[in-house]
Amino acid sequence: MARRPDVAKTVASLRRKLARWRDAGETIALVPTMGALHAGHLSLVRLARRRAAHVVVSIFVNPAQFAPAEDFSTYPRTFETDLAALAGEKADLVWAPENVAVMYPDGFSTRIVPAGPAKAGLEDAFRPDFFAGVATVVGKLFIQVAPDVAVFGEKDYQQLKVVTRMARDLDLGVKVIGAPTVREADGLAMSSRNVYLTPDERAVAPVLHRVLTLCAKKIATGHSVATILAEGREVIERAGFTLDYLEARNAETLGPIASGKDGPVRLIVAGKIGKTRLIDNVGV
Ligand code: PAF
Repeated sequence: MARRPDVAKTVASLRRKLARWRDAGETIALVPTMGALHAGHLSLVRLARRRAAHVVVSIFVNPAQFAPAEDFSTYPRTFETDLAALAGEKADLVWAPENVAVMYPDGFSTRIVPAGPAKAGLEDAFRPDFFAGVATVVGKLFIQVAPDVAVFGEKDYQQLKVVTRMARDLDLGVKVIGAPTVREADGLAMSSRNVYLTPDERAVAPVLHRVLTLCAKKIATGHSVATILAEGREVIERAGFTLDYLEARNAETLGPIASGKDGPVRLIVAGKIGKTRLIDNVGV
């Protein structure tokens, strides 16, 4: 049986464990997660293994990135299963703060409030405090672990851009690497929130990826971006989604584009099916 990774539950114990590697001059990769690990997360761990001598996976359901009406209390928590899966991937260390106060002690009053890609009018338009919550916790994780590299999934594309910008802006000395989205056989992007889908909703959900890939193909062959997106929005809504957005953006800045030639282009979508909000994206 694979050896379960070591677990640090306090910042002091994390730092003690990391010091051995750092003193030996060995590189460290961080994979930040909120647990409920699936094959997508495990692919991040495998990529991290290729980029550093040691892999640290953080597991922390971060209250700061959930709005009051969102699913913080019901977010799936599967710590024992997560540890077994990480053992299979030979992760070296799991950083799992033993309670919220380890990350946000009494009187906590400092936040990182990102702009640039965090104000692109995508996720931020629907979850106004989300990226401050993400940037604050990821900033803390980067400071606590001081990794050489950190791996984030491209599925949360805007998050990837926000965190990359933040690491550069604040000279955090970590190289942020994006990893391709892992999909189910029918194209649905893997997500810890897919467990919320009823069988009927699960059957409909792959429409997001189908529309994204079709729109990407058409935009690449020179069709009008506005027309393609209008058609795509209609297909997604007809399938039963309440759409938040389907947008074509500059893949680096996330700024608006007028035509497929303003590339590289990324198509980004978010919408709700039943009570579950799903996001996805593809490159053109
Ligand atoms: O993508 C996630 O799971 C979270 O937003 C992250 C990066 C772990 C921060 O809590």
